[in-house]
Amino acid sequence: MKVVLFVGSVRPGRMAERVAKMVRNYISQWGDIEVITFDPLEKSHLTEVREPVHFSSNPSENLLTDQETIENADGFIVVCSEYNRSIPPVCSAMMCNFPPKSYAAKPVVFVNYSLGQYGGVSATMNLRQFCTELSMIPLQASINLPLVNKTVSEDGHLEDATYERQMERAFSQLLWYARVMRKARIEGDDPFPA
Ligand SMILES: Cc1cc2nc3c(=O)[nH]c(=O)nc-3n(C[C@H](O)[C@H](O)[C@H](O)COP(=O)(O)O)c2cc1C
Repeated sequence: MKVVLFVGSVRPGRMAERVAKMVRNYISQWGDIEVITFDPLEKSHLTEVREPVHFSSNPSENLLTDQETIENADGFIVVCSEYNRSIPPVCSAMMCNFPPKSYAAKPVVFVNYSLGQYGGVSATMNLRQFCTELSMIPLQASINLPLVNKTVSEDGHLEDATYERQMERAFSQLLWYARVMRKARIEGDDPFPA
């Protein structure tokens, strides 16, 4: 099972670093799941929407390689805070570079956070709409971490057991949908025929 994890921040000292680590640590206990991280600090071609694959006559090799990775994935994880009650621009830019068909009929789970009280719920609400437009299946369960500098340690561990239940619910749903939808794809059951 392959899962792509999008990291939605390029800020120096970003909290996204520890949250992404926490998610990877957590998933590593669940067995045979490969997590492929899309980090805009390592993929500068994804920080803007200049020549998205589906609107370009000659997409770059970098974009085509990333598209193949997305198409081979069984599900997605979006790790980001909310910026001005919305999706951080680098996060939406990264994902806008690929067509809905690349993401189609695959589950996505949101891991949102904030330094304040609300745990990035506005990003979660916006991401539901955004990812639906990209043809993904947003899950009912999400993970929302307030006071993230206290809730998650720098080395990627949950410091507050309250959120373990959220993690368990969300990742159980992700893996269930990923398994079921992969089976349907293998059987040639395509809800988005060309
Ligand atoms: C441009 C910007 C806008 C922000 N807007 C919000 C907001 O609307 N709501 C909120 O709870 N926190 C907001 N914050 C604070 C973030 O929760 C906090 O800075 C968080 O660490 C950002 O994630 P990052 O460190 O991974 O970039 C904002 C931060 C930035 C940089």
